[in-house]
Amino acid sequence: MKKQYLMAPGPVAVAPHVLAKMAEPLIHHRSPQFSALLTQVREDLKYLYQTKNEVLILASSGTGGMEATVANLLSPGDKAIVIRGGKFGERWAELCEAYGVKPINIDVPWGEAVEPKGVEEALKDHPDAKAVLVQAHETSTGVKHPIEELGRIVREKDETVLAVDAISALGVYDIKTDDWNLDIVVTGSQKSLSLPPGLALVSVSEKAWQMAQRTKSSRYYFNFLKEKKAIERQTTAFTPAVSLITGLSVVLKDIRETGLDALFKHHKNLSEATKAGIRALGLELFAKAPSEAITVIKAPDGINGQDVVKILREDYGITIAGGQAQAKGKIFRISHMGHLCQWDMIIALAAVERALKELGHPIELGKGVAAAQEYFANVHTA
Ligand SMILES: Cc1ncc(COP(=O)(O)O)c(C=O)c1O
Repeated sequence: MKKQYLMAPGPVAVAPHVLAKMAEPLIHHRSPQFSALLTQVREDLKYLYQTKNEVLILASSGTGGMEATVANLLSPGDKAIVIRGGKFGERWAELCEAYGVKPINIDVPWGEAVEPKGVEEALKDHPDAKAVLVQAHETSTGVKHPIEELGRIVREKDETVLAVDAISALGVYDIKTDDWNLDIVVTGSQKSLSLPPGLALVSVSEKAWQMAQRTKSSRYYFNFLKEKKAIERQTTAFTPAVSLITGLSVVLKDIRETGLDALFKHHKNLSEATKAGIRALGLELFAKAPSEAITVIKAPDGINGQDVVKILREDYGITIAGGQAQAKGKIFRISHMGHLCQWDMIIALAAVERALKELGHPIELGKGVAAAQEYFANVHTA
């Protein structure tokens, strides 16, 4: 018998009561029932985002939210400062190029966080840059970038916005959209919101709305201004992903009930316990500024990280993720996002121990599990 466990950094496990809600008969998107649901979801999103601004709901994966940001805020010929410290930082730069925007890349070694000073200097060298594009959490490396500090820097510049890809960060740890002056915050449904893929959510500040009015890029589907008009009519510009929004309404209601602090503490506990287990096994973390969203483990010398992932998936029924691009084979990644609890982390650690032993790495079985158990026992997690 093999049970399936989804512990990759997206898509993630979805709670049964959310799946059940999404399986209910569809309601029509231009009906009073859907308008009421949408209005409630928009209010609840403001709570999650810690913002007074509108949060746009787009039917796309997270990248659609990133593309919408570039298309709506930047015009061909504009400059944007891009933090490139992993695969998703590279995506910002690629999107800029696709829209004729010149990326000024700040290359950060994979596994490290950007130095705010470097961004400050880049803005001095390029005072005409219209945006700073960054990840809150670079999922390919497990690193948290210091977006609060970047918010303080960019706030001083009237003609520059800070756009944050928080696709694997919002709802994982504390991100204060308004207090930190984050002009754009993008997330996706298949990460900490514990939903299937298919929704991109984008909060837009007043500064960003003003910029969107002036942009000259071609755009049609991803048009912030059209979406804003639709919000005034309590609807969406195009047919929304009705089932996903219905699922989102359940997730957001649950978050409201437990509160943001409990949500952040939950991820912190799963992350800390897993990281304690990994260290107890004598393994190293890849990220210098690790996030609570995932644990990224360096494959020990002589072990290919992809083999660990393969054994877990094919032999144990557990899906974690390997490294991407230049990190392929060098790391493996365990998610703390999705419908997961402390016992799932114990399972993940036990599986990693067994796989490494099978691959010939000297491992004392149970050592990582014991460290995680110790952590959980001390913090009294539910
Ligand atoms: C930080 C980050 N940005 C962007 C993306 C791309 O999102 P999607 O695959 O939903 O388009 C991901 C997905 O893993 C991500 O983790």
